[in-house]
Amino acid sequence: MRTHYRAEAACVAVLLRLCVSTWLVSASFPPAQNITWKSTNFKTVLSWGPEPTAEYSYTVEFAQLNKDRQRNPHCIQSSQTQCDLSSSLSDLQASYTADVLSEPPQGAPLELKEYPYTRSPPFCPYTDTLLLGPSFRLDVSPDQKRTTVQVVDPLTAVFRDGRQLSIRDVFGDELKYKVTYRRNKSTGKKVVTSRSSELVLSDLDPGESYCFQVQVLVPSRPTSSQLGTLSQTQCTHQRDPSLLDQYSLGVIVGAVLLPLLLVGGLIALIVICCLRRNKEQPSEKKETEALNV
Ligand SMILES: *[C@@H]1O[C@H](CO)[C@@H](O)[C@H](O)[C@H]1NC(C)=O
Ligand SMILES: *[C@@H]1O[C@H](CO)[C@@H](O)[C@H](O)[C@H]1NC(C)=O
Repeated sequence: MRTHYRAEAACVAVLLRLCVSTWLVSASFPPAQNITWKSTNFKTVLSWGPEPTAEYSYTVEFAQLNKDRQRNPHCIQSSQTQCDLSSSLSDLQASYTADVLSEPPQGAPLELKEYPYTRSPPFCPYTDTLLLGPSFRLDVSPDQKRTTVQVVDPLTAVFRDGRQLSIRDVFGDELKYKVTYRRNKSTGKKVVTSRSSELVLSDLDPGESYCFQVQVLVPSRPTSSQLGTLSQTQCTHQRDPSLLDQYSLGVIVGAVLLPLLLVGGLIALIVICCLRRNKEQPSEKKETEALNV
């Protein structure tokens, strides 16, 4: 009877200790909250909260649907609240989820048990990364009849065989640029899309200042993410139409020749005057000499 009672007490004590220890662990290892994916041009960072105390750390595990979970070496028992997974999500078209585990701090041994974790929403780089407004250059032809928008294909954070991929490498034929432009003075906008990085506009009024913005457009992505953000605005300069367009050649020749003629005439006049004076002076002398005689 007594031994039975003792065994029962021991059992209860063990159970209590188990309860208390799991309660302690879950109290000091809070699960991650508010897990979000922040991704621009395929640079993808997983973020969460809260900042960990010295008592625990975070480990990130990611996986494609129905595939093995993997870890990024920089995000194991880390005290950071973010993890750059750009190079880990190598299949850009796949959908991934990530688990953020609350584990003992770095150096502390892991126990054979489940630590609390929180799962992220799914994320697919190809459809979900935000495409930033690209940089571009404007060129106006000398006769002002053609304006060229030269877009620089933005680089991604993805490397293949040591080469950094551009968004054209990733999207291929799916990539388009949407160019929005307006006369600098007006608000009426026009839109053209182009598969090429170089877009030539030949219907703009010569000499006018136009302002341009460029966006990436990938029609095969879901409607909400087809369009990237707007680039910075750039304007062409207002310029007087070239002289040759406005005036006939005769007028230009006249405008150049007339001053030349005037200056030439002036010089001729001065020369003639001087010559006359030089001629007149000796005769004056003669006259005075004649008087003295
Ligand atoms: C999570 O988000 C909620 C609501 O935005 C906020 O109140 C809370 O403080 C966040 N938690 C962490 C750990 O950032
Ligand atoms: C565009 O117009 C604004 C005023 O409307 C002017 O300040 C600016 O210089 C113009 N830009 C160009 C490039 O002409």
